[in-house]
Amino acid sequence: MSRIVIVSNRTPGKGPAAGGLAVALRKVLSERDGFWFGWSGKLVDQPGNEARMEDIDGLQVAQLDLAREDHHAYYAGFSNSILWPSFHLRLDLATIESHWYEGYRRVNQQFARALMPLLKPDDIVWVHDYHLIPLASELRQLGARNRIGFYLHIPFPTADALYAIPHHEELMRDLARYDLVGMQAKRDVAAFTEFAEHQAPSTFGGHQAQPIDFSRTEIDAFPIGSDPAAFARLAASPAATKMVHRMKRALGDQCLILGVDRLDYSKGLPQRVEAYEKLLANNARLRRNVHLLQVAPPSRDTIKEYQETSDTLDAMCGHVMGRFAEPDWQPLTYVKRAYGQPSLAGLYRLARVALVTPLRDGMNLVAHEFIGAQDPANPGVLVLSRFAGAAEIFHDALLVNPFDTDETAEALRIALDMPLEERKQRWRSLMDAAEEHNVDDWAINFIERLAPGTARKAGSTRD
Ligand code: G6P
Repeated sequence: MSRIVIVSNRTPGKGPAAGGLAVALRKVLSERDGFWFGWSGKLVDQPGNEARMEDIDGLQVAQLDLAREDHHAYYAGFSNSILWPSFHLRLDLATIESHWYEGYRRVNQQFARALMPLLKPDDIVWVHDYHLIPLASELRQLGARNRIGFYLHIPFPTADALYAIPHHEELMRDLARYDLVGMQAKRDVAAFTEFAEHQAPSTFGGHQAQPIDFSRTEIDAFPIGSDPAAFARLAASPAATKMVHRMKRALGDQCLILGVDRLDYSKGLPQRVEAYEKLLANNARLRRNVHLLQVAPPSRDTIKEYQETSDTLDAMCGHVMGRFAEPDWQPLTYVKRAYGQPSLAGLYRLARVALVTPLRDGMNLVAHEFIGAQDPANPGVLVLSRFAGAAEIFHDALLVNPFDTDETAEALRIALDMPLEERKQRWRSLMDAAEEHNVDDWAINFIERLAPGTARKAGSTRD
């Protein structure tokens, strides 16, 4: 049976514990032969060309050190100051330094050179996310003939935003070197197809570039999910229950409104606080009866736009406190730190409302995990941005336009007033959708499409 090789910038055990990518893929490798390949987290002056294979909690992980300078251009530069804002349609927040592309390319070449000697001819290679778009091209240049798939965890941009990215044509040519490109949502596949069918290559110096041939690359939507049953168990675990008791003591009878997001401008956090402010302003009866808890672990904080988002949020939370707090009541708590999955599961279970209101998001696994963690006898309500990939799946959430803070405030009010019967009905439908889109099937479907007949273990009873 072919091995699976997963490649991503971060490897498991490194980086923020709450990352949906790590949680989802750890499971794939725990059930089959293969290894995970990625950056070691170490920056050095003179990186070698070899990866170190290590056993991390039973997973084989091959890790590579990167050169300090290249890493800056590759990660904070091209990946997170150009690709991330453009793919999230925030060209106003992009910083375009075109030389970053060279560092991005060099790191992808380095990944390919270190990965190539570890590959067997029939290994299936599954590359993850925007940091590594050129990897298949680089591997193929070194002679790899393996089946190679790419999965984009973030949204695919509209054509105009794509054209604003330096070297976008090369990046699209790179995507055409994969056998399969998976996206989160139908809207992403539509945007990709729009580009592929109406390519308008740039004409520098009068040279019309050759149209890109996508005929050997399959493109489809594979919406990622979570493991809702595992989240349900976690939410009833002693660690989660401890968090529930702790919060209940602090909240008394107040209803908890919860947000959990990386501190990222794509998550719509200032708009969310503004919607909460409007809720309190428009509904005096709710003051002293509700409490917003926003958990926002810091992210990519060497990048100016992230620091600014953090400052804006500090100011807005302070503003709402000043406007509504009383000596014995605070309208909100804002914590800039990461919590483990058990504590989060406890918070999700206790929350009457989850506010998942990104301005644009690939999928958003917080929505999935919140649903999994609910008490079926007394479930909370999901207020969900229509611009999250999750909105294509969770039709019975209260869908909102996160830019319209009046609408979000009104959805919050409706969620808080929703009778138990309606909450139960909506939750049942959301849970069915979360179960249908679970992460195990996501991985099996992708691998099966990439290399038919290889996704299932011998003796597996799955059909
Ligand atoms: C998003 C991306 C992931 C990334 C994660 C955390 O979910 O799709 O690829 O790992 O954010 O961001 P970071 O920059 O800390 O890896």
